[in-house]
Amino acid sequence: MSKGNPLSSQASSDLPSNYKVINSHIYTDRDYVIPGDSDEISRMEMSHYGYRYLFRCNFNAPVEDMLDQGGIILDVGCGRGPWTMEMAKSYPKSSFVGIDKEDCFPASNPGNCVFQIVDLLKGLPFKDNTFDYVYSRGMYYYFSFVEWQQVVEELRRVTKPGGYVELVETGPLFNNLGPYSSKFQNACATLIQAVGGDVYIPEKLGDYLAGFDDLTTDYASSPIGWKGRIGQLNLQNMELSYTAHKLRLCNYMRWTEEEYKVINEQGLAEYSKHKTWVNIHYAFGMKPLV
Ligand SMILES: C[S@@+](CC[C@H](N)C(=O)[O-])C[C@H]1O[C@@H](n2cnc3c(N)ncnc32)[C@H](O)[C@@H]1O
Repeated sequence: MSKGNPLSSQASSDLPSNYKVINSHIYTDRDYVIPGDSDEISRMEMSHYGYRYLFRCNFNAPVEDMLDQGGIILDVGCGRGPWTMEMAKSYPKSSFVGIDKEDCFPASNPGNCVFQIVDLLKGLPFKDNTFDYVYSRGMYYYFSFVEWQQVVEELRRVTKPGGYVELVETGPLFNNLGPYSSKFQNACATLIQAVGGDVYIPEKLGDYLAGFDDLTTDYASSPIGWKGRIGQLNLQNMELSYTAHKLRLCNYMRWTEEEYKVINEQGLAEYSKHKTWVNIHYAFGMKPLV
């Protein structure tokens, strides 16, 4: 396995130690600017712009030539399809399929892009060896450890020999937390583990692509609440995340609404104060030709 992107670098001295920045990238796509007005950006789109800003592109696998010439691409768990739509616009000769179990797809889409309701746990409704590139981001915590293995096996099945699979996952273990943000994180991790999930999957993405050629893994660090616009977007994302987790965490941890309110307010305030960051991991590999 080749481990590490040669163009990645450790941080300069004004950043916490171990904070890792990707300075530049071999494969660039056409546009990686974060939109100026965040009021209208939903949580999923917010994290999309965060990912794109961090990696300076929409993908890490060496697929740019294939995309330019025209390939068939699958976006797994595409949600509202921010990645699928941008990629379809950037690479008009390629065809994109976005699948999700929820019908939250955009009302209109480019002609080279279709969306389909699919529950990954029931298998993918595509023949073996269909896609040139299969992309999956932000998915592992929806599945137990065993289910995640089955999901990645399905991704492998539908990828053509010589095609690439890319997995991208966030943390969820943050660095430099305060007491309240630690409480929130520990509770989330407990919940994930209680349903058979594994919080360390993001750090082990390469293991799931064992047997692939050109296997590459790396990560970049993403700031929460500091370091400019990207930190602000991540903080807004966290605000929505605290709200989204409220019911389940209160039930599971037996926290009262008042207790949660304090964790929420204090936890969010701690991120910029402590210079919190999270690592975003990726792995890609080529399905062997034989
Ligand atoms: C955090 S979102 C990530 C969306 C998108 N990949 C992105 O990065 O912008 C996870 C998505 O996975 C979808 N999902 C969860 N379980 C699924 C399943 N069993 N089958 C298909 N999609 C699923 C959810 O509906 C949600 O849209």
